[in-house]
Amino acid sequence: MIKKGIILAGGYGTRLGSLTKAVNKQLLPLYDKPLVYYPLSVLMLSNIKDILIITNKGEKSNFEKLLGDGSQLGIRITFLEQDKPRGLPDAFIIGEKFIGKDNVVLILGDNFFYGLGFTNRLKKALHSNKGATIFTYTVNNPSEYGIIEIDKKNKIKKIVEKPPRSKSNLAITGLYFFNHKVANFAKTLKPSKRNELEIIDLLKIYLKNGSLKSVFLGRGSAWLDTGSAKNLFSASQYISAIEERQGLKIACIEEISYQNKWISKKQILKIISSYGKCDYSDYLKKII
Ligand code: DAU
Repeated sequence: MIKKGIILAGGYGTRLGSLTKAVNKQLLPLYDKPLVYYPLSVLMLSNIKDILIITNKGEKSNFEKLLGDGSQLGIRITFLEQDKPRGLPDAFIIGEKFIGKDNVVLILGDNFFYGLGFTNRLKKALHSNKGATIFTYTVNNPSEYGIIEIDKKNKIKKIVEKPPRSKSNLAITGLYFFNHKVANFAKTLKPSKRNELEIIDLLKIYLKNGSLKSVFLGRGSAWLDTGSAKNLFSASQYISAIEERQGLKIACIEEISYQNKWISKKQILKIISSYGKCDYSDYLKKII
């Protein structure tokens, strides 16, 4: 069972140009809420209440303004800063103390997941994780992601980061489960040619010792890119279409807390008054 989660919410965000010059990418709006609400909701839906958010240097206070210490949501959020984007495995070196002797989930702050059965699949994988677990998704543009090649028996044969040409279109999504050994393994990694610690090098250690599992997210689920202005806009349209149609919100963190019985009606009312008069507050009123 995994009870701790890390959201990696730093990075340069260079593909978004002027949008991220003054604001961290994970604080930009994805339709009607900040981007970071989406990975946070994934952790909360998996019953993870102990969360570390890693931000860029000097940006911690903006996230604190938004999320506080998490107590209003019945969870515990701690913040740490990464002095420069040294690569995804740096999250485990920064978070070593937070992880302690526990297993941990890492989710990238810019990843959006949605779909029927997604939470159940996660919960099942959380229970069965021994070494590391990755989640894969079919994509049209494999050269932009970490990619796995599998054999006829679904065994992972090869892991490559952003291959210019690839026989496989199975991308590794930004959601990873690791056992307690991860910080020690991360410390053995050397920077790659692009001068970053690479998540695939970490995964290769688990693959080599036979403890890397992959779970395929079927075509009925959505894993959307939010890395460029166009992608961010398309993802917003997707969320807007579903929310408008159903009258239900995706990644409403207060609703998840309330449904998990982590907070009371009274606490939701307090949150409503802090948001003031807006659609989001009206929605919260509706759910209580
Ligand atoms: O989204 C899934 C992909 O994420 C995987 O398929 C790739 O294997 C993996 O390397 C990663 O690729 P990206 O090129 O998308 O990673 P990017 O550098 O854009 O960083 C992803 C998020 O993590 C982004 O929100 C910024 C944050 N980040 C990144 C780095 C390298 C940090 O906070 N610190 C860092 O040092």
